[in-house]
Amino acid sequence: MTPGIASPAEIDHWRSEFPIVNTCTYLVSHSLGAMPRKAADYLREFAETWSTRGVRAWHEGWWEVGRDTGNLLAPVLGVRTNTVSMHQNVTVAQGIIASCFTYGGPRRKIVMSDLEFPSNHYLFEGFRRYGAEIAYVPSADPVRLDLERFLEAIDEQTVLVPLSLVLFKSAGITDARAVIEKAHRVGAHVILDVYQGAGAVPMNLEAWEADFAVGGSVKWLCGGPGAGYLYVRPDLAATLEPALVGWAAHDSPFDFATGPVRYAGAPERFQSGTPNVPSLYSARAGYEIVAAIGVPAIRARSLRLTRKLIDAAQAAGYRLNTPTSDHERGGSVIIDVPNGAAVADELIRRGVIVDYRPGAGIRVAPHFYNTEAEIDHAVELLREIVEGEAIKAR
Ligand SMILES: Cc1ncc(COP(=O)(O)O)c(C=O)c1O
Repeated sequence: MTPGIASPAEIDHWRSEFPIVNTCTYLVSHSLGAMPRKAADYLREFAETWSTRGVRAWHEGWWEVGRDTGNLLAPVLGVRTNTVSMHQNVTVAQGIIASCFTYGGPRRKIVMSDLEFPSNHYLFEGFRRYGAEIAYVPSADPVRLDLERFLEAIDEQTVLVPLSLVLFKSAGITDARAVIEKAHRVGAHVILDVYQGAGAVPMNLEAWEADFAVGGSVKWLCGGPGAGYLYVRPDLAATLEPALVGWAAHDSPFDFATGPVRYAGAPERFQSGTPNVPSLYSARAGYEIVAAIGVPAIRARSLRLTRKLIDAAQAAGYRLNTPTSDHERGGSVIIDVPNGAAVADELIRRGVIVDYRPGAGIRVAPHFYNTEAEIDHAVELLREIVEGEAIKAR
């Protein structure tokens, strides 16, 4: 039977699958999840296949590796099989979606929050040259989406609504279902960026009627770089024709037909060119572990650890730039202390691995392989360093 993540023995079992946790206090899974030991085995398997099978590998599994990897992710996202295609990263996946639409007519508005991850802004800004109008919705509260204002901005002129399910700076969870409901009422489509949620926060994208979802694998999925994913609602997928397209999206790629593409069915019709095979091999290890434990069990453990962290940070008098109620918060806690960047550097130097974001604070992200003792150690060290910084400033 696959171990869960409730008892100390089960936690120890999973910790033994992630070598880095024996070398430091690894609390940075919102940025780069720990590497599973098995990822190295999968990479060796890739190298061995390349070395021994050469070009025959394409027809012995490599050509289908995108579809197979997407299918491993499907239960984590709460979608059916054969709806997820694999890409290098979120930007590429968003670009493919954006290229399915036109921006010259009355429906040309793209509505985004000012709390989005920057590359979502950068990419869609580029579509102004094709006629797109970008409407940014400001949030007075930097921790939460201003839902009322956001819903108001979505209207009959709106074509796309890119929205993070979990905000990268504050870990605030957005009300995706309310946004999808409003968008559909006015004929717009929602692209959920689930990067900061997948593997940490349960989601049921098909039941939520999400049109599109994008994300990557380096964070809570522990899948490493180069394995971005794109989900498209099955009934919508059949009607879309991406302009950003390559030979892997052709119905019969090995005919090498020139001229306009004849689109394959989903998910391949959203693929570009040659799949990113080594990244897809290595990503599998993290997906398998996340799926084996189950996202609801990971979430339950994450809530226990983040609650402990929040209580300790509040007891120390630190400001939290993260929602304190569980249902509003993803897997990270953002602690704002004076000289945050320097304090984060010192934490890292002393073996507590976190990161710092300007305007937010120190991001601390326990995952299922972390322990209560590690939270205690991190907070104790944080207090010591903050106190030291305060003394220095006197
Ligand atoms: C919510 C969110 N979206 C997108 C990205 C970047 O994605 P990519 O590098 O795969 O384009 C990040 C990275 O931190 C993120 O947190």
